[in-house]
Amino acid sequence: MSTFANKVVLVTGASRGIGRAVALAFAAEGARLVLAARSPDRLAEVEEEVLALGADALSVQTDVSVPAEVAALADAAMSRFGRIDVLVNNAGIGKVGEVAAGTFAEDLRLTERASLFGMIGVTQQVLPILRRQGEGAIVNLSSVMGRKAFARFGSYAIVMHAVSAFSDALRQEVAADGIRVSVIHPALTATDLLRDADVAEMPPPFRHMTPLTPDDVAKAVVAAVRHGKRRVVLPRTANVLLLAEAFSPRLGDLVATALTKRRVASLLRMSRGKTYHETISAAHSR
Ligand SMILES: NC(=O)c1ccc[n+]([C@@H]2O[C@H](COP(=O)([O-])OP(=O)(O)OC[C@H]3O[C@@H](n4cnc5c(N)ncnc54)[C@H](OP(=O)(O)O)[C@@H]3O)[C@@H](O)[C@H]2O)c1
Repeated sequence: MSTFANKVVLVTGASRGIGRAVALAFAAEGARLVLAARSPDRLAEVEEEVLALGADALSVQTDVSVPAEVAALADAAMSRFGRIDVLVNNAGIGKVGEVAAGTFAEDLRLTERASLFGMIGVTQQVLPILRRQGEGAIVNLSSVMGRKAFARFGSYAIVMHAVSAFSDALRQEVAADGIRVSVIHPALTATDLLRDADVAEMPPPFRHMTPLTPDDVAKAVVAAVRHGKRRVVLPRTANVLLLAEAFSPRLGDLVATALTKRRVASLLRMSRGKTYHETISAAHSR
């Protein structure tokens, strides 16, 4: 029997992209799903997909940045299933733009509101439930940008760094309560997150990069909970960038600049075919 059979997994941002893939991956393991996002129609479609896998699901229309809606989400999950075993804090947004851009501070505020304060609000609602149970897992979606920023991705990278620090503090605070915390740092992934960003305006290292699939990230999320991993970076080769940055920012910048060259991106298995925009325009990612 799967580790996750009948476990209750709450996924925020479950209406598309990585969140949808995470929900389907846990459903395939026999888990019961609580699906949260703002778009009811898309949530209903994902709920259908979960049910088609033979798993149980509850959709709750939720804006994670609205405290009353987050409280209602936790209440709905508890009234339907009576417990929460895994919380996947995945809801978020991302904006592209230089620090000098007039929109930078507002982009940062918007991203913080959804991706950081949303995560904090949901965690604070669910934590007492996990503590009462004496067990549970929390998975937070950060990014490779949560360890090393790229040019034109400052607002997003600031928030992803904050998500890393939040996860680090939380993990140590709840370890004695039997609650495990994992933080996931995926590289560029083929979802709608950056669909509206102009190709020419994208962070330069993304120029030749082949995105991960949402399923790649979902697999990593399930494995992180199964094995109690504290931190997962994917693809693994992205660790070259992170190790270089840990050693010195000069080396980190060198690797970031080198990644703009197809040869180097290929060597690190980060350029393997279609780029982000080619991938998402070829097949409308959800
Ligand atoms: N794509 C990448 O390259 C990448 C790489 C590393 C990490 N990540 C992280 O992975 C997570 C998922 O991103 P994605 O790539 O799957 O993006 P996506 O396709 O744009 O999906 C984002 C999800 O978050 C939901 N969402 C956004 N704001 C919300 C809010 N205020 N309240 C509730 N739900 C909200 C969206 O649903 P509604 O619009 O229906 O609310 C949607 O389901 C994000 O945290 C992102 O930072 C992405």
